[in-house]
Amino acid sequence: MQTPHHAAKHPAPAILTVTLNPAVDVATSVERLVESHKMRCTHAQRDPGGGGINVARVIGRLSGNAGNASDCVALYLAGGATGQMLRELLDAEHVAGVCIDIADETRENFSVRETSTGREYRFVLPGPTVTAREWQACADYLASLDPAPRYLVLSGSLPPGLPADAWAQLAKAAKARDTRVVVDTSGPALAAALDAGVYLVKPSLGELRTLTGRPLAAEPEWREAAQQLVREGRAQMVALTLGERGALLVTQDRTLSAAALDVPVSSSIGAGDSFLGAMVWALNRQAGLDDAFRYALAAASATLLTSGTRLCSAEEVERMAAEMVKREASVR
Ligand SMILES: Nc1ncnc2c1ncn2[C@@H]1O[C@H](COP(=O)(O)OP(=O)(O)OP(=O)(O)O)[C@@H](O)[C@H]1O
Ligand SMILES: [Mg+2]
Repeated sequence: MQTPHHAAKHPAPAILTVTLNPAVDVATSVERLVESHKMRCTHAQRDPGGGGINVARVIGRLSGNAGNASDCVALYLAGGATGQMLRELLDAEHVAGVCIDIADETRENFSVRETSTGREYRFVLPGPTVTAREWQACADYLASLDPAPRYLVLSGSLPPGLPADAWAQLAKAAKARDTRVVVDTSGPALAAALDAGVYLVKPSLGELRTLTGRPLAAEPEWREAAQQLVREGRAQMVALTLGERGALLVTQDRTLSAAALDVPVSSSIGAGDSFLGAMVWALNRQAGLDDAFRYALAAASATLLTSGTRLCSAEEVERMAAEMVKREASVR
């Protein structure tokens, strides 16, 4: 693991992900949820979590991890014993990380799968309070990278203490250095980032509804709302993910649409992050739009197969992407 003061020894990665409110994700299962009684859960599975961290984990897997660690680095804020655990979990997965230390304790998120129904319950904590000085250290680190990364992925929620335009501030600074800014967040943080104008945004349908304040009931409206973001210059590319209904990819010239793959869903945690990770990984490798979109769908689907906070394997992503090519060829 790198720390900021050692960072000068390392070349700037092609892709840098930022996670301001990471977590240690704890996943377990229980037969049935009942009130008051002790519910005996299965062994807890712990994974490093938070949007940008998951994106970096997926990119690491797709690029064969350790082999080319400088391809993608995860920058994150972490503190306390949980922060230490987060660092160790990332190290164990050979994910290259740069940690900005904070005084408050990193959060743990908790998910429980009810095996009798297959339902999944996710308990998400607000996260530690970040001070102005800690936030500044993060912005300074980004500004100090030379050359600037090609892609900057700003993903996940904002922790307490940061202004709603925290992502927008990073986006503006990065844009001024010709970095392609990628955003996946929600609510006011998403609206502010789009006001700054980004390269790629990946809202889910719920996030797009909140953003537009419109019900967006059916496909033509989803398409139109995504196209409007591009027309208004708020994003050059919009990847709108639609859960079990698949996804749309909209640019100035093209609108691609894909149904979701029919896979047995074990857990949908991390599907959106896997989608985005694969998309950015492919774009960074100069893939065309169709290929990048296909990899994104393949990675999201491959993550659905894995339990709890586990993410896709590179083999499964390649297998599913190849399967999609075969299917497309047979319908032509
Ligand atoms: N139930 C499902 N069946 C098939 N594919 C799914 C399912 N849920 C998710 N996916 C796949 O994962 C992708 C991302 O999922 P989704 O649209 O739910 O985004 P998300 O970012 O995980 O959602 P959110 O951030 O709102 O929790 C979808 O585009 C789709 O390809
Ligand atoms: Mg999401």
